[in-house]
Amino acid sequence: MTWYKDAVFYEVYIRAFCDGNGDGHGDFQGLTSKLGYLQELGVNCLWLLPMYDSPLVDDGYDVRDFLKIHQDYGTVEDFKEMVQETHRRGLRVIADLVMNHTSDQHAWSQEARSSKNSPKRDYYLWSRTNRKLKDARIIFVDFQESNWEFDPLTGEYYFHRFYPQQPDLNYDNPAVQQAMLRVMKHWLDMGIDGFRADAVPYLFKREGTNCENLPETHAYLKRVRRFLDENYRGKVLLAEANQWPEEVREYFGAGDEFHMCLHFPLMPRIFLALKREDRRPIVDILNRTPPIPESCQWATFLRCHDELTLEMVTEEDRQFLWDAYAPDHQMRLNLGIRRRLSPLLNNDRRRIELAYSLLLTLPGSPIIYYGDEIGMGDNITLKDRGGLRTPMQWSNEENAGFSVAHPSAMYSPVNDDEVLSYKRINARSQLEDPSSLFHTVRKMILARKTHRAFGRGSCQFLEPQNTAVLAYLRRYESDNILVVHNLSSSRQSVSLESTEFPACLPVDMLSGDAFAPVSRGPYALDLDPYQYLWLTLKPLSQPSP
Ligand code: GLC
Repeated sequence: MTWYKDAVFYEVYIRAFCDGNGDGHGDFQGLTSKLGYLQELGVNCLWLLPMYDSPLVDDGYDVRDFLKIHQDYGTVEDFKEMVQETHRRGLRVIADLVMNHTSDQHAWSQEARSSKNSPKRDYYLWSRTNRKLKDARIIFVDFQESNWEFDPLTGEYYFHRFYPQQPDLNYDNPAVQQAMLRVMKHWLDMGIDGFRADAVPYLFKREGTNCENLPETHAYLKRVRRFLDENYRGKVLLAEANQWPEEVREYFGAGDEFHMCLHFPLMPRIFLALKREDRRPIVDILNRTPPIPESCQWATFLRCHDELTLEMVTEEDRQFLWDAYAPDHQMRLNLGIRRRLSPLLNNDRRRIELAYSLLLTLPGSPIIYYGDEIGMGDNITLKDRGGLRTPMQWSNEENAGFSVAHPSAMYSPVNDDEVLSYKRINARSQLEDPSSLFHTVRKMILARKTHRAFGRGSCQFLEPQNTAVLAYLRRYESDNILVVHNLSSSRQSVSLESTEFPACLPVDMLSGDAFAPVSRGPYALDLDPYQYLWLTLKPLSQPSP
């Protein structure tokens, strides 16, 4: 039932993944044909970005019809086949659920705008002025000046947290609450394993508040969970709540709200720790993170389909991260950085591996963003977040092996810059090369899967004097793992207090190498630049295999 605690997730932008019918857009047939690749990588559950009918102002996060598949992605049969095939291979699949808003082309919105007396008017939030709810943050700060948009048809303003083409739903309306449950039912009945729920902090709005994390929102989300539990067992709900740890904690409730929440504050601190060569940003934020109920799990990530958001850091750290990782202003977007993992880390294999090692050993279930397992690049000349969503690089053939369409029909150009061109960086060549990033990540995932301590165990940070070293113990039942990271570009010596793990034989689970046994007293290690160690601590009495 709590499978998600041991799972590795993989985020798929369907349009970008694989084009099965040659029209230049990725689709379900294409995705189905690549499930073997994902199985080989070793991930357990796919997270699909919105697959619904949409005019694509916000890449599908502007839903025109929640019950229809976007025509570019294929038919409902293609979708069902993808779900079946995913399950046949022992994988699972969850879908994005866009709860907060619809497209302005959704039938509800069209009806609501047709007249002030429309029965659907109250599905959205209307006002004669644009001065209400003024404490609600603007999220797309590079594009919006207000959360209100004037509707000339009826002479009133409507509220939108994101683009004006994404009017917010009015959750005070019981019909809206009910409608979203129907949407869930529709897709759950087709066999999917749950949802990643988009932008959940903003559902309810109240004057005089910032309209985030309101009690009414939590009450409704608990109802969503009850609906799931009563009708569909073993499914998962993952929250996108870009908030501070104390606030995100509330989305787990007492184990009766979300099973999982993305850990937004941790993510930028991984990049902070890497740049400062100092473990404290990571340790401090995890120490500040309240405990969560037994059945719950954090979802951790390095990159995703959005800008690397810096909303959950101080202004000073934000400026530092911008200067360090987005020196060119074109790399910045809203309060974040629109770059992929590999270019962020200067395409330095050692640092990329170190980042994956952190992702795969810290508490939580990791999510890998498509293409990052092969170190794909980005394209900052494309607008908004388009540069992070370019076609998956399958091979060095035309269109990166993603599509047989004429290049002019492609939904986006493929990456063909000097350093990270698909001609150099592609899945085929990495599959063939045992020393590739793909195979390193695959081996890490495999090692992680043989130790439940990673998904379920406690995490105790050690406190060696050398702050360039991040070391922690992950423990679950009889499993004891010591993870050590050298965050710096130079060799480091570290002395670990071994009272926590007396008398054992550390064995590196990635290389199989046995280390000097730990007896009493501090345990000394010399670490290469960016070195990481995943050490199983075997009792000394037990002969090592
Ligand atoms: C979420 C999505 C983002 C989208 C926004 C509005 O933050 O991750 O891509 O633009 O919601 O739906």
